[in-house]
Amino acid sequence: MPSPLIPKFDNFGLKENDVTDEQLYLSRRKFIGQGALAGSLAFASYLPLWAHAKASQKQGKFAAAQRSYDHKEALTRLEDITSYNNFYELGTDKSDPKTNADALQTSPWNIRIEGECAKPGNYTLEDILAPHTLEERIYKLRCVEAWSMIIPWIGFPLADLLKRFEPNSDAKYVAFETLYDKKNPLPGQKRKVVPWPYREGLRMDEAMNPLSFMAVGLYGDTLPNQNGAPIRLVVPWKYGFKSIKSIVKIRFSKTEPQTSWNDIAPREYGFYSNVNPTVNHPRWSQKRERRIGELFKVPTEMFNGYEKEVAHLYKGMDLKKFY
Ligand code: MTE
Repeated sequence: MPSPLIPKFDNFGLKENDVTDEQLYLSRRKFIGQGALAGSLAFASYLPLWAHAKASQKQGKFAAAQRSYDHKEALTRLEDITSYNNFYELGTDKSDPKTNADALQTSPWNIRIEGECAKPGNYTLEDILAPHTLEERIYKLRCVEAWSMIIPWIGFPLADLLKRFEPNSDAKYVAFETLYDKKNPLPGQKRKVVPWPYREGLRMDEAMNPLSFMAVGLYGDTLPNQNGAPIRLVVPWKYGFKSIKSIVKIRFSKTEPQTSWNDIAPREYGFYSNVNPTVNHPRWSQKRERRIGELFKVPTEMFNGYEKEVAHLYKGMDLKKFY
């Protein structure tokens, strides 16, 4: 069950017309399919602008979001986004998270803030969400397994959340944790797939980049449990495993935090793990990706297409190397 603390989009502060509704989106696409070719092409090139215009009503001056509409690709179907998942706490098969979604109780939900900041403490989900204006952002999610999806998220910038806790000058990194109750583990946590809890982290400047996003919904509705309810991270220029789900702890730290996949396979999953088609995974190529729901593979883009927004964060790093 989605958390009742997060209301339907009426109360998100977004009007119905501000967000991408799948039915409306699909009916427009059907119309494209039925039109004459020339007309279709003209309309198709207009479609991303239409989507952007709708979303930008809430995005204000967030220029980077515009980039994510530039790739002119269809949104992934809601059914695919919610039934083809990686959420190992709910099982390791792609269909397990949806099947076991009800095992995740999202209410009440608290997030513990720790470490190098002036305002540590236990915050309820209501405390966390209260001051934020929600917006829609259509991002490409590129999994390290070489598949990708185009997802219309609802949420707010991670930077806006972090600033509220007043991190001090020793806060060089931010660490995140997903829920783990040893006495009452989720179905997938009965096996040690990764050392639970699932942990991830970012360098502070990565976390403060305007693209880093806290999602509480998708397709204009609350986040389904299998997608990381009630609140998750989305870092679109990094491989999907950095986008940690169902967050219960955020810690500001002086040193690079331990992260789950990097802990168990450091040569396969770097701390940075920026999407990079020139650096292959030791067991497969990262040059191309399969867009879920589409027939043909497409080339993978440097930083997943967000190079303009984030390349400056990695000045001095050799982009041909694994990090
Ligand atoms: N977060 C947690 N807590 N547990 C996970 O297993 N999987 C990651 C990431 N976040 C994962 C997680 C991986 S590998 C990917 S690709 C994305 O979530 C998938 O997000 P999605 O299922 O919403 O597409």
